Amino acid sequence: MPNPALETLLLAFAGEDALAIPSRGLFLGAEAHPALMAWPELHGWQPHKPTADAWTRAGFPRCDTPEGHWPLILQLPGKSRDEVLAGFARAWELVEPGGALVAAMENGGGAKRFEKELAGAVGGLISRQKNKCRVFVARRDANGPATMPAEWLEAGRRHTIPSTQFVTEPGIFSAGRIDPGSQLLAEALPIGLKGKVADLGAGWGYLADALLRRCPAVEQVDLYEADSRALDCARVNLAGRARPLKFHWFDVATGLPKRYDAIVMNPPFHSGRSSDVGLGQAFLKAAAAALVPGGELWLVANRQLPYESVLDACGLRRSPAGGDATYKLIRAVR
Ligand SMILES: C[S@@+](CC[C@H](N)C(=O)[O-])C[C@H]1O[C@@H](n2cnc3c(N)ncnc32)[C@H](O)[C@@H]1O
Repeated sequence: MPNPALETLLLAFAGEDALAIPSRGLFLGAEAHPALMAWPELHGWQPHKPTADAWTRAGFPRCDTPEGHWPLILQLPGKSRDEVLAGFARAWELVEPGGALVAAMENGGGAKRFEKELAGAVGGLISRQKNKCRVFVARRDANGPATMPAEWLEAGRRHTIPSTQFVTEPGIFSAGRIDPGSQLLAEALPIGLKGKVADLGAGWGYLADALLRRCPAVEQVDLYEADSRALDCARVNLAGRARPLKFHWFDVATGLPKRYDAIVMNPPFHSGRSSDVGLGQAFLKAAAAALVPGGELWLVANRQLPYESVLDACGLRRSPAGGDATYKLIRAVR
């Protein structure tokens, strides 16, 4: 089913009081849609690699760093409070005087609350509801504020997790904390792991850091991650390490380009808005195909996730490696 928030966002350009389609625009959180193909020039910023690839495949230009001033900013603003409010504040700085910000969100994601916050910051919004979503339009006129609350921008910046040296930012997986499942896996990684190792869905680099700390015979670590914001945090968190590291902005579900002596992962079980067991299973298949004979896969997963049958079907020999009431650790050898 197409993204209902995107369908709703497009309602701002239809009907009686439709906004005019400008000569150029920027879409933050860009997702391709057939209705956008008719627009003269729409650039897209999208940190999620598979969605960014779909955007490019559809023929739209990509924007790596949102900057400049635009007559129109479209926005699908994300989920967490800090991410959404910081996203509004950043978007507003990109709207040229006389231009507009058009954002859409699901009601279940707090659309009404966020609309109220945005209206409080910039004045009256025009809003519409459909598909269990809301779209709201904020016009930047001469009398309105040039910026949004500074604390919104501040909360959206990278912060260090207390008592650690790790930075994260709102919107990425496990922002502001170490994931308890990943911590269990990190503590279980055998110190004898060696050779070339891959961390799939590496996030902000927690497991790669654990590999480097615990396993002296690991020669290099390749980090594969779909969220460019998380990967940028990983670059910071792992800066200055003596052993070679490679950071790949990559969709693991498409399969890995190289072979590895070992692979570690806490596979994702969400894609975008909904849970997706198939994505985690695609990670297992990619790992199985990329291990050298005798290579080891170490993974952590919520106990209820059906991963064992996939490992068996891929011909890996697996053994339980511990865990707790919530998480299971699995070691599987090719
Ligand atoms: C459960 S998190 C684990 C993150 C990190 N390894 C940790 O332990 O903190 C799964 C990660 O997979 C990433 N991810 C989701 N889909 C992906 C894909 N198709 N390709 C690569 N990474 C993906 C997510 O952005 C997320 O960072």
